[in-house]
Amino acid sequence: MTATTEKAGDVLRRKGTGGLVVLTAYDFPTARLLDEAGADALLVGDSLGMMVLGFPDTTEVTLDHMLHHVAAVARAGPRALIVGDMPIHTYDTPEQALDTARALVAAGAEAVKLEGGVRQEQKVAAIVAAGIPVMGHLGMLPQRVREEGGYSRKGKTPEQSDALLEGARALVRAGVFAIVLESVVVATARRLTAEIPVPMIGIGCGDARCDGEVAVIQDVLGAFPWFVPPFVKPEADLAGATREAVARHIARVRKT
Ligand code: KIV
Repeated sequence: MTATTEKAGDVLRRKGTGGLVVLTAYDFPTARLLDEAGADALLVGDSLGMMVLGFPDTTEVTLDHMLHHVAAVARAGPRALIVGDMPIHTYDTPEQALDTARALVAAGAEAVKLEGGVRQEQKVAAIVAAGIPVMGHLGMLPQRVREEGGYSRKGKTPEQSDALLEGARALVRAGVFAIVLESVVVATARRLTAEIPVPMIGIGCGDARCDGEVAVIQDVLGAFPWFVPPFVKPEADLAGATREAVARHIARVRKT
């Protein structure tokens, strides 16, 4: 069974058509702008930790942080699907996973996302059984960065590729409507996109041509210059524009 509200169903039906656009949003004005620009889904990702809260990675993000930002995005009333990320250690058991998902939905999320494959099957099934759409996340799992000692590409060997496929199948059995695939080598990302019946939404998967792409909005806008992942292709230089605008403002104020 897949829990699909109308909006999550729209995403699911885009399997095989390509071009699904998922962007992170953590606040009201960004959510409005991205929705007006035509994004298909807004992910209130736990990348919030680095992009907004100043943490080194996602592992210090709490459910309270997420609820605060999901609510801000929901106030924008977007047409796009709002997906709320489940922070680390908020889905350690199926019961806890369901409580967390319900809290995110109460704050305004229309779907939730969690990281991992086979070991999350029961948790995804519990959330889906309650009628809440779930997005999976496979490949490089940012919540495991400390355990793994850094970020690395996944799916390089046939064994790793098979394990990812097995994880994706477990998530589909449990009822996910889409899966984020992060930092997976092209051949494996193509294999999963071809074999898995729900949209695979890539990030850092090269030219794998998944069913869509998810991007951190600061990366698209060039708004977070202190760390830019190597696969990112910024479409603007908001950091530069901000520095220049503020320098002009400071010059004007100091002259008066
Ligand atoms: O938290 C996030 O923004 C994410 C995306 C990078 C997929 O999980």
